[in-house]
Parts: sequence; structure tokens; C-alpha cells
Amino acid sequence: MQQPNPKTYQLEHSEAKVKLYGKYLAVYLSIMHHVQYVKQVFVFDLFCGEGIYKNDAKGSPIIALESIRNHYFANQKSCPNMTLWFNDNGISEIESGIFKSDRVQQISTRYFIPPNVNIEYFKEDYEKIYPIAIDLVRRTKDAKGLFFIDPFGYKDIKPDDIRKMLQGGNTEVFLWLPIAQMYRFADSVMRSNFPGSEPLRLFLTELFGKVVPSFQSPREFIEQLRSRFRAYLRDLEVFVDTFILERDASNLYCLFFFTRNVRGYEKMLEAKWSIDPGHGKGHSLEKTMSLFDEIELSGYPQKLQAFISSADYRTNKELYHFGLDNGFLPKHTNNVLRDWKREGVIELVSLDGQIARGNYIEYNSPRYIGFKIKQIP
Ligand SMILES: C[S@@+](CC[C@H](N)C(=O)[O-])C[C@H]1O[C@@H](n2cnc3c(N)ncnc32)[C@H](O)[C@@H]1O
Repeated sequence: MQQPNPKTYQLEHSEAKVKLYGKYLAVYLSIMHHVQYVKQVFVFDLFCGEGIYKNDAKGSPIIALESIRNHYFANQKSCPNMTLWFNDNGISEIESGIFKSDRVQQISTRYFIPPNVNIEYFKEDYEKIYPIAIDLVRRTKDAKGLFFIDPFGYKDIKPDDIRKMLQGGNTEVFLWLPIAQMYRFADSVMRSNFPGSEPLRLFLTELFGKVVPSFQSPREFIEQLRSRFRAYLRDLEVFVDTFILERDASNLYCLFFFTRNVRGYEKMLEAKWSIDPGHGKGHSLEKTMSLFDEIELSGYPQKLQAFISSADYRTNKELYHFGLDNGFLPKHTNNVLRDWKREGVIELVSLDGQIARGNYIEYNSPRYIGFKIKQIP
């Protein structure tokens, strides 16, 4: 049987991609709505696609409109002041003679749009439009910006684009990368120069430098990308999280989330764990492990122990950041600490003159507690 064309029919993995985007957007909106100083929120969907596909499946612009509508009615008819940009330079493959962004514009008229939400439609090349978007957020007082980057492949995207998007400090980035495709060619593009190999080679060398390691599995590739992105963006103090969507070996995508705001990052991690309670790593159709298994299997307790042992003691604030950096919430760190306390593995030290009983692994904790490993667990 002939496979449906993924450019005109939205396939299952793309549907999962946009659903995840909708969930994250809902969390993002509720965070923005409650931050007093934010007066304007920009969402830049720079590869927005067709809007609605032949099988009636909704693309990212429509998912965004629905997410905003739901937020508005769930919050006494209010939402942050917003400007949405829907951009795509392609010609529609569903309706002849019009651009995809024109199609999205026509479809959007059927959706409820709150009065303080403004939408603009563009048909520009990504390279040309993203710097204009960056500049707009920078020039707008008390603004926040979210970039949603969902290309077909990876050839248009450079790590330096992400750096530029984050430089202003008031932006977050969602970037989808087609991991299966990239992983398959990662070794060969570094060894030989063949037609089409240039973009991936440039992408990898920008992140890893001249010596790009060999990757043992797609998951290891993702972990290495995440850790190199963190190192590459270290001067901007960026948190990087990943969400893996895996339907089968050839449909493996990863959403990279970049932010410089630790609290926003924690909220997004919470959302991820609630979508995917057993794993916090991503979605795959066959996984059924429990939360406990996942924490154990990911080696988090060992990592935490090595981190604490590598100094005289570690503070509650350090453990808060360490957990988040590794994709774990304060409650997960607390679970491990609880077991260790029971087994006499860890000792708490008061650093602020008050009795140390609780762990205080939380954002902006008023307490200072030290954690020391007494014996190897
Ligand atoms: C994966 S699709 C986006 C799907 C969309 N997010 C959705 O949910 O329906 C990628 C889109 O990027 C557009 N595109 C490809 N290269 C582009 C470029 N250089 N600038 C702008 N748009 C581009 C294509 O026309 C295509 O619609």
C-alpha cells in the first residue's frame, strides 16, 4: 500500500509533536499570565505549515490558537497581550495557487481569537525572518518571546541561531530535530564529503568542535547534543531539556527546550513529567516503566551521590539546580534523599544556625542546608 504523503497528511508522529507543543504552550501561557511585569508575549512559529491537513489533523498554528482560546475561557476571559507570527515560505501542497501562510490565514478566521491577541502572517525565508523577530522582542518593553522551530529536516538550523534567539534573555526556544535522520549520517558526514553532507557537518562541528565523537545509539546522540548545547551556551546560563518522541526507529524526533529562566524551566519539567509520568524523558508507545524504575535506571541516585561526594558537602540550592540540570524535579531528589536518610547514607548539616530537618530543595529557599555522604549507598 502506498504511504500517505507526510506533507499533505499529518502522520501520527507529527500529531504527537503538535499535541506536545499545545501542552507546553498552555503551561507557558499560564506562567506568563501570572508574571506581573510581562506586558507583551510573542510567539514565533517560523515553519508553520498548512494549518489543517487533508486528514483534518491540526498543525501547530491551529493548536496554538486552540491553546490560547482554552486559556482565555479558563481564566475569566483573559489572557496575556499577545502577538503571534505564522511564517512559512512554502506553496501549499493541499490548495493550489496559494502559499501555506495564506491558507493558515484563511483557516484562522474560523477560530476564536481574543481581542488582545494579534496575528501576523509571513511567507519569508526563515534565515531572513528570525533576526527580525529577535529584534522585535528586544525592542519591546517588558516583553517575552517564544520561538517554535519545526523544520522538515535540519539543514536550515544552526546552533548559532539558537544562541542569537536566547541572547536577549527574555526568550525561550522550542526546537524539533529529526534525530533518526541526523544520527544515521552523523558518522559518515564527518568522514567524507558527499552531496548534501555539508549542513550536518557544520551543525556538529559548531557544537562539538573539530573532533566529533562516534555515537553508540540515537539516545546517546540526543544526550550528547543536549550536553554540548549546554556547554555551547554556558556563557548565557541556558537550561536545556529534551523530550523524545519515538514511534519506531525511523521516526525518532526530539524536542529541545531552551530557556535562561530557572523557574520557567522547572515548570516545563513539571509539565513533562505530568505528560509522561513514568519517564520524564519522552513518549514512546511501548514504554511502561514506573517512576521509581526510571529514576533508578537513569542512574540518577549514582549521579547525585557522585555530585555530593565531589565536595565536602553540597547545599540544598546546589541540589535543586543539579536535579533540574539532569531533568529531575525537586520531588525526585527528595525521594532519593529520603531513602538515604533512612539507610544512614547521608547527613544533614545546618548552615544557617537553625535545626536542619527538611531538605528545602526548592526555588529561592530561605534556608541553607548542607548534605554530606556518610557512607556509599
Ligand atoms: C515540518 S513542516 C512544519 C509543520 C508545522 N509546524 C505543523 O505543525 O503543521 C516544515 C515547514 O517549513 C516550511 N519551510 C521549509 N523551509 C523553510 C524556510 N527556509 N523558511 C520558511 N519556511 C520553510 C515548509 O514549507 C514546511 O511547511
